[in-house]
Amino acid sequence: MKKDLLTVEELTREDIENILERTGILKEKQKKREPYCPLIGKTLGMFFEKASTRTRVSFEVGIYQLGGQAIFLTPQDMQIGRGESIEDTARVLSRYIDGLLVRTFSQKTVEDMARYTTIPVINGLTDTHHPCQILSDLFTIKEKKGRLDGLKLCYIGDGNNVANSLIEGAGKVGIGLSLACPDGYDPDGDIVKKAKATAGKGRTHMEILRDPLKAAEGADILYTDVWASMGQESEREKRLKAFRSYQINRGLVETAKPDVIVMHCLPAHRGEEITDEVIEGKHSIVLDQAENRLHTQKAIMEILMG
Ligand code: CP
Ligand code: NVA
Repeated sequence: MKKDLLTVEELTREDIENILERTGILKEKQKKREPYCPLIGKTLGMFFEKASTRTRVSFEVGIYQLGGQAIFLTPQDMQIGRGESIEDTARVLSRYIDGLLVRTFSQKTVEDMARYTTIPVINGLTDTHHPCQILSDLFTIKEKKGRLDGLKLCYIGDGNNVANSLIEGAGKVGIGLSLACPDGYDPDGDIVKKAKATAGKGRTHMEILRDPLKAAEGADILYTDVWASMGQESEREKRLKAFRSYQINRGLVETAKPDVIVMHCLPAHRGEEITDEVIEGKHSIVLDQAENRLHTQKAIMEILMG
């Protein structure tokens, strides 16, 4: 039976560990420029309703490196943009391609694509989830810290798609999570409820605070994302006000552990959610984080499309 990747929640800890292990192996092969082509003759369709730099390029380069090829698809160029149904589009695409990466607004669109295709569907970001980002970030954290279990991650800012997937991922691998979000901008209520219930049973910790400094105390990892995500452009002014004090800056970094790593999924809005000084500073690992998207996306394609 085909397998999809729609959320982090649907993965077991073993699934995640397998992805991270394959990511490490593929990264090593790539560093040695060792050819490895398990996906020869396979094609990845990439259906994007929203802009992308990292996700698009890492998947597109990744499938080439694995011996396959990619087709970039947008609603502007396809009949789906003129009213053809998701069901027909998905069933037809299944006859041509071997996997489908989808970046959309609604999570329901990616779920419908998965329902009607007979090929693996990979969620490349929706308004509520960004599983590929978080799987890659877990790899990066393990690479930098040597472990995942028992670390404290502090997320500052908007309870958005990245935060939702981070909550789902952290709980599975034993990372304790302190989020600082302004009132009214918490992550998805159901995801939080589930994470708190799991944290209550296990050793992990999960809390949502209003005070960024308190959340950052003793953190091994500081993580942030934009205040206004794609699709929220009209809320920008309102959000700039609400999030003003939810910034990763020097003071916040000094509240965390001395060897804290600073992460951002990018693109960043310097001077808003993170200062220029911090993103360019010695704690920041954002470029290694971005690079690892490539190696992780390859592992995901190898596992689902191989
Ligand atoms: N982090 C991330 O998904 O970046 P893009 O929007 O550039 O793909
Ligand atoms: N939260 C951001 C992430 C971009 C990778 C957005 O959805 O725009």
